[in-house]
Amino acid sequence: MMRLDRFLAINKYGTRQDVKKMIRAGQVTVDGQTVRNPEYKLDEETAEVIVDGRRMIYEKNHYIMLYKPAGCVSSTYEKGERSVLSYINEAYAGDLFPVGRLDKDTQGLLLLTDDGVLAHQLLSPAKHVDKRYYVELERDVAEDAVIRFQEGIDIGDEDMTMPAVLELTSDPRHVYVTLHEGRYHQIKRMFEALDNRVTYLKRISMKELVLDETLKPGEYRKLTEDEIMKLKVP
Ligand code: URA
Repeated sequence: MMRLDRFLAINKYGTRQDVKKMIRAGQVTVDGQTVRNPEYKLDEETAEVIVDGRRMIYEKNHYIMLYKPAGCVSSTYEKGERSVLSYINEAYAGDLFPVGRLDKDTQGLLLLTDDGVLAHQLLSPAKHVDKRYYVELERDVAEDAVIRFQEGIDIGDEDMTMPAVLELTSDPRHVYVTLHEGRYHQIKRMFEALDNRVTYLKRISMKELVLDETLKPGEYRKLTEDEIMKLKVP
């Protein structure tokens, strides 16, 4: 059950104040009855809500791709730090959480959702969801780096890293890396183990979801139905 004013605000009919005015003005019906009380409780999954004559489509969950800029943390709250959630200007922002973490100085694709089931699926270590990164290095990439990434690297953890794909480009300091796991500072630690250093790191994709290059750092958009569907495929 949810309050009518919250329900409308979450579904982008305006601020809480805006939607309260709309409700009091008689612009909203629930299951065929005009409701003028903003605190009216409805079952958001089944109620038929009509605003100014138009039937509302209920969205149970929200899915957002954020182009995470550098300088903000992926956790929802950390004292003295700007959170990725501060970029999301939606009434439901407080319900969202990031699916996986990027380092404070890492940029790129970050999926934010309130769908715990999907988040769990994507983060489950057993699922080995692919994550692809664009990487800039301090020094030219070593000749044997592709093989080392493929074979697994000792980065000081109990286990070697899982086979990862290193793609070279025409610039020996610019590479792409695809990981099937996600350990703390993993890419940085992998290159450190090869006596190199990451100077810039940007996530390009996660599973089938690719960062929308029309977004600028700090901008976001909703996922399309197609994108959501592809993420949900087991
Ligand atoms: N690897 C890193 O080192 N940092 C990230 O943010 C992601 C992958």
